[in-house]
Amino acid sequence: MTVSTPERPFATLGIVGLGLIGASLAAALRKRESRLRILGADQSDATLARALELGYIDEGCTDLLDLCRRSDVVVLAVPVLSLRNVFEQLAPALADGRTVLTDVGSVKGVVRDAAEAVFGQVPAWLVPGHPIAGSEFSGVDAANPDLYHCHQVILTPGSDTDPTATACVRALWEQVEATVQLMTVDRHDEVLAATSHLPHLLAFALVDSLAQESEKYEIFHYAAGGFRDFTRIAASDPTMWHDIFLANDQATLDVLDRYMDHLHTVRAALAAGDGEALHTVFRRAKHARDYFSRILDERTG
Ligand SMILES: NC(=O)c1ccc[n+]([C@@H]2O[C@H](COP(=O)([O-])OP(=O)(O)OC[C@H]3O[C@@H](n4cnc5c(N)ncnc54)[C@H](O)[C@@H]3O)[C@@H](O)[C@H]2O)c1
Repeated sequence: MTVSTPERPFATLGIVGLGLIGASLAAALRKRESRLRILGADQSDATLARALELGYIDEGCTDLLDLCRRSDVVVLAVPVLSLRNVFEQLAPALADGRTVLTDVGSVKGVVRDAAEAVFGQVPAWLVPGHPIAGSEFSGVDAANPDLYHCHQVILTPGSDTDPTATACVRALWEQVEATVQLMTVDRHDEVLAATSHLPHLLAFALVDSLAQESEKYEIFHYAAGGFRDFTRIAASDPTMWHDIFLANDQATLDVLDRYMDHLHTVRAALAAGDGEALHTVFRRAKHARDYFSRILDERTG
């Protein structure tokens, strides 16, 4: 598959941020599309050197403007609260509208706000995106060329976004075998607060609470599969999640409040010895979780 069109030639891709998400995209393209030239940049020289050594990128760039001027599409794969600063650095190289810019940030409202602050509006050539794929590991050595296979990527173009720019970013993700969905920014942040941000908050809080109660983490010696499954994501990168929660605070608080109300109801049923009420909650939850398992099975074929 090629994503080049006469309006949008696509021979060179720039990736800024070569951690789990950026390096996995480079590795995935390397595995599937050998003709695309990939330029990489990262604030860490060691990461840039490692991405070159692993063969994920063709060239490491220390000058972001140079990377941007030489790329047809640039993917920003840096923590969400760093995006505004990167927009500011790249702005002089984007003015002619030749380069399509996209990002992978887990929150989209903050990307819209940063773009408006730096460019005066969300530019037609900016197509915000978010791959719904990842892991609790981070950094270039965690990269996985199949990370996006059978996963969804949400793009949040606005009414002023150039359709050829959206098509270009869509084709990029489809090359790495992801399925692309379009969504509004607000809907994205609401949905992700419920399905990703709340579970991470609960996992972090549970592990922290048990760790503080337990002398030298002694309690974890007696934990097994259920605890492992529920808390795997508490091993995720604290800096990345710091940024995500601060960037999506309101939507996360809304869903957290609804969850706490429900938890109080479950607590009341337990305190009252109301087995029927507990059973109803568990039955409903199992039904919903089984439905989710079937969705996952269908997605992976
Ligand atoms: N990890 C996940 O599960 C996941 C999933 C979907 C989206 N995301 C989003 O992807 C983005 C990157 O996450 P990640 O998991 O790859 O993180 P990561 O920590 O593995 O990688 C981030 C990389 O960006 C570099 N970096 C940071 N600031 C920079 C800057 N100003 N200029 C250049 N390089 C910079 C870091 O050195 C690092 O190599 C975040 O916005 C995150 O919200 C993460």
